[in-house]
Amino acid sequence: MAAYTWNDHTYDVVVVGAGGSGLRAALGCAQAGLKTACITKVFPTRSHTVAAQGGISASLGNMGQDDWRWHMYDTVKGADWLGDQDAIEYMVRAAPAAVYELEHWGVPFSRTEEGKIYQRAFGGMTKNYGEASIQRTCAAADRTGHAMLHTLYGQSLKYAVDFFIEYFALDLIMENGACRGVTALKLDDGTMHRYRAQRVILATGGYGRAYFSATSAHTCTGDGGGMALRAGLPLQDMEFVQFHPTGIYGSGCLITEGARGEGGYLTNSKGERFMERYAPTVKDLASRDVVSRAMTMEIREGRGVGAHKDHIHLHLDHLDPKILHQRLPGISESAKIFAGVDLTKEPIPVLPTVHYNMGGIPTNYHGEVLTKKGDDPDCIVPGLMAVGEAACVSVHGANRLGSNSLIDLVVFGRAAGLRCGEALEANANQTDLPKGAGEDHLARFDRFRNASGGTPTAKLRSQMQRAMQEDCAVFRTGETLQSGVKRIAEVYSGVPDISIKDRGLIWNTDLIETLEFDNLIVQAAATVNSAVNRQESRGAHAREDFPNRDDVNWMKHTLSWVDEKALVKLDYRPVHAYTMSNDVEYIKPKPRVY
Ligand code: FUM
Repeated sequence: MAAYTWNDHTYDVVVVGAGGSGLRAALGCAQAGLKTACITKVFPTRSHTVAAQGGISASLGNMGQDDWRWHMYDTVKGADWLGDQDAIEYMVRAAPAAVYELEHWGVPFSRTEEGKIYQRAFGGMTKNYGEASIQRTCAAADRTGHAMLHTLYGQSLKYAVDFFIEYFALDLIMENGACRGVTALKLDDGTMHRYRAQRVILATGGYGRAYFSATSAHTCTGDGGGMALRAGLPLQDMEFVQFHPTGIYGSGCLITEGARGEGGYLTNSKGERFMERYAPTVKDLASRDVVSRAMTMEIREGRGVGAHKDHIHLHLDHLDPKILHQRLPGISESAKIFAGVDLTKEPIPVLPTVHYNMGGIPTNYHGEVLTKKGDDPDCIVPGLMAVGEAACVSVHGANRLGSNSLIDLVVFGRAAGLRCGEALEANANQTDLPKGAGEDHLARFDRFRNASGGTPTAKLRSQMQRAMQEDCAVFRTGETLQSGVKRIAEVYSGVPDISIKDRGLIWNTDLIETLEFDNLIVQAAATVNSAVNRQESRGAHAREDFPNRDDVNWMKHTLSWVDEKALVKLDYRPVHAYTMSNDVEYIKPKPRVY
């Protein structure tokens, strides 16, 4: 192995990732007086939160009466009863304050005539426990994530977070089951960095790029999930992958659900507004799993549009161009660039596209990472926390409602900061890292750096993405999923034959893409294996061979461990069938009616 030298750092808290949840957590820790670092592989304002469009949910009641209990009910129902209701109560109750905090920090929200924060309708958000759609999603036009990310980055600088920008996190330093730190490569000069910390917070986002067509940025490679698995920790509910109904046909670029919130609707080749048949009450504003399935059914039954009858039309051409310009400027541009469509005059061609991972690193609602030990399903992993899409807290259960992601980021980012503030002493003495800490990380890194096989990483990545897209899609069967399990295992068996051409350490994209692929492939394995195992349909997991939800046998979280041979071991944790406080009762499962 080549000689590498560590640059050692000591912090109270190290946050990995600088999207919405990472920045909110880092800023909260710094506010609490803790010496805080934030490591990020891209410049903070280029993190994937920047791409979030439609908005952030909170029961502000600016457009009519609202109530956090209604928001809670919708989230529990949207999650198809796989969400932990204590965490859901925590989120929806904290949501209004979290949005006002963003407003006070400078997020330029769109406004009502009276100057209040503008809120739009989003799928699955209803009033009075499902009676009708409600406007609950606070928006900054269709660039809400962009506005939030810039504001949060500015605030974190104010609170003196130390940023390590364009550093790629390699692995967690573990000692006797506790996390003691993390290692990283500085991308522009190839130096190696070892961080010792009282807490590491993983805020590394989702792993959407395990699929071929995703709204996620190419950087969404689930690096935190990969690190957790290599540390011997489980991931949770990986079978639940959300397809956003309106990715632009061909490019997969997102057209916000806010488009339907502003009055847009979907049609098939007969010009029929088919959502009226599938979800008579909320129609085009049904939850994403429902709309994606309905679109797929229409296409399968020969009612898709276009030369190949393989997509659906989204209409906004009936809306006032002034409104489109004011509220949806970003998608007006995306539709023009990526579909060549002037949305004031013609429909946008759209297709369900991978958008979000409900699964991730299991945590409680303070952001502390959990594992199962013996009979304890909620055993806290000392020193390690996770937030945002990397985590599974689990407020989204089997299916996330649109705009519940941005609120999850800031509510649980804040919760993690508060927890660190309560639990840690600033600048407390930390014992030395174990002898040789990080040597195994270097060995793995060096192995990939010098990989001299015959298969380019891009080839394996493409095989993985195709397998996931084809075999672990909107609709699944035992047969397709078994095929996915086999194909992903074959892809993984190609890893020892990887070929890296660039042996350098300065901006070695060949090597970084390989490390990212290595993070993705294990999560692809966890996903297909968890999916083939779950013999029911729930939320985004639609099994044609098991079309019903089965609360007797499957109202439980899947845990998955993946070993170095990509063999997947599965176990379960109970869903938290209780709320956080006595203010609200556990919402009992109901049959699915839309
Ligand atoms: O459709 C959208 O604007 C996406 C929002 C979300 O995923 O929460």
